[in-house]
Amino acid sequence: KDSDLGRFLNRHVDFPKSSGNNRVYCNRIMQRRGLTRPVCKTFNTFIHAPTGQIQAICRGAGRCHGRNFCDSNASFRLTTCQVRPGSRPGRCIYRARVQTRRIRVACTQRLPVHFERIL
Ligand SMILES: *[C@@H]1O[C@H](CO)[C@@H](O)[C@H](O)[C@H]1NC(C)=O
Repeated sequence: KDSDLGRFLNRHVDFPKSSGNNRVYCNRIMQRRGLTRPVCKTFNTFIHAPTGQIQAICRGAGRCHGRNFCDSNASFRLTTCQVRPGSRPGRCIYRARVQTRRIRVACTQRLPVHFERIL
């Protein structure tokens, strides 16, 4: 479904990477993407790559297995945002972790719909 892809892109794709150093990047983007209401989402990874490269994981640029999981052949630049203790809606504070790694996504009708994990 389109809406599942749209939800995936909103939650997990930021390309080109939005501005802001590691101290403020997560605080800003988590709020802007609507991930701090009604609760501060505790954990979320953003992929800094074009949508086409991420969709390709479901279309031959990944190794697929299980029900609908596909592991990317390529590594991607990632930022993972993790909420800090004491956060509350309206004041969600995050720490950012930057990595370049392969990823596992769930695919439906050859489109990514869920970010499973970093490999
Ligand atoms: C991804 O890896 C699989 C398994 O090694 C391979 O069959 C496939 O051709 C690769 N896809 C690309 C686009 O390199």
